[in-house]
Amino acid sequence: MAESLTRRRLLGAAGATGAWLAWAAAGNSAHAVWAKPRFTVNPFTLGVASGEPTPDGMVLWTRLAPDPLAADGAGGMPAQVVQVQWQVATDPAFGYVVAAGTTPATPELGHSVHAEVTGLAADREYYYRFRVGADTSAVGRTRTTPVTPGGSRLTFALACCQNYAAGYYTAYEHLAQQDIDLVVFVGDYIYEGPGQGSIGRAHQPPREIFTLADYRIRYAQYKSDPALQAAHARAPWLVVFDDHEVDNDWAGDQPSDGQTVEDFLRRRAAAFQAYYESMPLRPFSAPVGDDIQVYRRATWGGLATFHIVDTRQYRDPYACGGAEFSTCPEAFDPARTMLGFAQETWLADGFRQSRTSWDFVAQQGAFVRRWVDQNGVLMLKMDAWDGYVGSQQRVTQAWVDAGVRNPVVLSGDIHAHWASDLKLDYDTPGAPLVGSELIATSISSGGTGRDHVPGVHPIFADNPHLRFYTDLRGYITVTVTPDRLQADYQCVRDVMVPDAEVFRRASFVIDDGVRGLRQTYDGPPAAAPARELTEAERRAAIDALIASETGDEQEGV
Ligand SMILES: [Fe+2]
Repeated sequence: MAESLTRRRLLGAAGATGAWLAWAAAGNSAHAVWAKPRFTVNPFTLGVASGEPTPDGMVLWTRLAPDPLAADGAGGMPAQVVQVQWQVATDPAFGYVVAAGTTPATPELGHSVHAEVTGLAADREYYYRFRVGADTSAVGRTRTTPVTPGGSRLTFALACCQNYAAGYYTAYEHLAQQDIDLVVFVGDYIYEGPGQGSIGRAHQPPREIFTLADYRIRYAQYKSDPALQAAHARAPWLVVFDDHEVDNDWAGDQPSDGQTVEDFLRRRAAAFQAYYESMPLRPFSAPVGDDIQVYRRATWGGLATFHIVDTRQYRDPYACGGAEFSTCPEAFDPARTMLGFAQETWLADGFRQSRTSWDFVAQQGAFVRRWVDQNGVLMLKMDAWDGYVGSQQRVTQAWVDAGVRNPVVLSGDIHAHWASDLKLDYDTPGAPLVGSELIATSISSGGTGRDHVPGVHPIFADNPHLRFYTDLRGYITVTVTPDRLQADYQCVRDVMVPDAEVFRRASFVIDDGVRGLRQTYDGPPAAAPARELTEAERRAAIDALIASETGDEQEGV
């Protein structure tokens, strides 16, 4: 109650600021227009991106930053409005321009551009670029979605957790070479901590970040990476944040590192603003004060629905006194919620209304039940859905009750590849499977890690619904047709050196209308032979898992 009163007071005080941001997101500015902009260096240093594709358009993104790491966070731009031209063509040489326009880049929003394009043909590939003064951006590739109920095939990449200081973005170099239609990014686009790493990619500014200028600089540093720029230029993205876009392990109004609620909400407002400025989100997702609307739905013809879920902003505080792993009764209290009850209702409505072949819940933390043997006692992870069992059960029950044809949860957060089957009743052996979950490992967070042969972890003994695990970096390629889904788990051999090999570690298939994953590929074939772990090895592996998912380790450097 104290928090909500504080929050209302803050929102009242910040109301003008919130309204002002929405006004700015509509293209307004208090600043004069720079009539004939001329730059001494190309201002498109942060690349281009697109997102939120529909049958007739998408949003195109860039941000002008001739000096991306400028200490004031303004990217080297003057406090003037710049009109940015954009073009969309059917060919990469721009011989056939089919749409063009001008969108203002304002100081209020860090000279970011969110240009909403409409009027394009459905289910087509397009190319886009920006121009200001004498300078032109890189060319990006994007596409529109099929008209419902069309669409025969969709290939997307699932990625998350890209700690810049912790490793090279080799996974993105690989992803940018693939024939993909879409990238789904489920959080930890930046890390807010001070980690400096060991490979010459030290965080800027070199401290934990709190202010709008701090967050803008951190995003600019991450977005300066050529592999990340190439991945954005390859396909439209659907993005959602997790905790590190604001602060490690934040929950609702609750900070995790000793800030007051008021200070934290000011920080959250700054973090959300910089997030919006840096992402290919539509203006309706512009934050209002310290709130941002990112839970939303995207469809791909009759083939797929993406229910994009926010598990941070509306969740109850952690159960069990803040322990990372616990099993106190509070975690099972159905009055507690991961999504907030309004978002739970919205999600259940979406399940009922969906008519697509595949329904993806795209979100952050592990959804599946994972009992972890901590010193002989079975524990659950409080930051994951296991810490909000009421929500875990209600969401699962909702898709079962709605008769969703093929439910699949897409997740990230825990810096390892996992594949699992989902149940309503995890306590009864043989209880029916009701869906599956694909958890993508990190792009770089946590450093190189190691392969687990033969793709299992000792906690599988207490969780027979878990199907695959390996602790390497990478992403997942998912291809869906009306008949089946195939998930290819891509892994990077080493993220501490540039350009390491990327290889397919495992593949799983889900057949239309069938519950449960079916493994169709297990590699690499030269992997060490499988054998029974000794008790000491088993214990060490479980302890390592607990350590790797605990607290600031997720900073990863
Ligand atoms: Fe992460």
